[in-house]
Amino acid sequence: EKIEWDFEAAEKAGYEHFMLKEIHEQVSAIHNTLAGKVSELEGTIYLKELNMTEDEIRRLSRIQILACGTSWHAGLLGKYLFEQLAGIHCDIDICSEYRYRNPVMDDGMLAIAITQSGETADTLAAVREVASYNCPTLAITNVVGSTITREVDSVLYTRAGPEIGVAATKTFSTQLTLLYLLAVKFALSRGKLSHNYVKGFITDLRKIPGQIQQILNQKETVKECAEAFAHAKSYFFLGRHLNYPIALEGALKLKEISYLHAEGFAAGELKHGPIALLEKGTPVVTIATKGQTYDKVLSNIKEVKARDATVIAIAGNKDTEIGKYADVVLTIPQSSELLSPLLSVVVLQLLAYYTALARGCSIDKPRNLAKSVTVE
Ligand code: G6P
Repeated sequence: EKIEWDFEAAEKAGYEHFMLKEIHEQVSAIHNTLAGKVSELEGTIYLKELNMTEDEIRRLSRIQILACGTSWHAGLLGKYLFEQLAGIHCDIDICSEYRYRNPVMDDGMLAIAITQSGETADTLAAVREVASYNCPTLAITNVVGSTITREVDSVLYTRAGPEIGVAATKTFSTQLTLLYLLAVKFALSRGKLSHNYVKGFITDLRKIPGQIQQILNQKETVKECAEAFAHAKSYFFLGRHLNYPIALEGALKLKEISYLHAEGFAAGELKHGPIALLEKGTPVVTIATKGQTYDKVLSNIKEVKARDATVIAIAGNKDTEIGKYADVVLTIPQSSELLSPLLSVVVLQLLAYYTALARGCSIDKPRNLAKSVTVE
């Protein structure tokens, strides 16, 4: 008797799609990213792959992040982290723009390229451009031995394991994890954070994989929400501060795999245009985790409600207030304001996944998209 062996099904390990499997793998992927890099006892970050002396880190005058797509969203959060934690001025550009805008480079600049595949043509070209000015370069990538790793001075690997789904999930959250580590390391070197603070940070960071598991355990709630709005005309995603890049990523995930029109905005920009698009029942996903901009986000939610749009809030599970304003609340475990983006994004990945599922889309291979874009 011939036994049929479905290789792809075996690879999916019982999940219906690679994307769902990879969303679940974030628990172990982040754990792998952190392995050997943090000491909770000492409050220290070890990045031995970083070919920079303490002195070079202290002398940095600015950082230039270069990336495309989802990696660009990771970089946008990185900018906030480098500035807020390490006090280093940080710019971020989309690679296809950077090369053609006559960028000004100066001594003391570090370029950080973020690329899952390490093969994106625009990113490689932008890195070659900065390297031609003798600017030190660092890459954050997932693929060992990819082209970018041969072009830069230091490589930090996300260690997420192969990602088959075209929509990036575990590679995004592990890119973010490395950016947190890098920003905290720079902050320590530059005397901006104490080891004591970093101890607490590491304690919180090490809780993240378990907290992601908790979100995954209640994925049915996200599924119900996705099904309820699967035929909306368009979807909006709002976030402020550290959650602004996450709002952009939530919108990108949704448009990539469900083909729904989706846009992400900085919540404060709502009144400067996007609010005109709101109609009765338009789903507006708002990241409303506790933090310095919480009250402002609540006002944005009220503005959205006043236009009869539907608010889907992502909020901490201890928030007793948000339910008064939002139509649907999707909760995440309580975590520090700093790290909560790592949790909120998982809810948005699930929302995109279940929306695409309800719409019968080709989730792992969305139309017109490639996993890695090697042409400019
Ligand atoms: C393609 C993929 C995206 C990815 C982008 C950048 O467009 O579909 O998911 O974010 O490339 O890829 P990279 O490998 O450089 O991170």
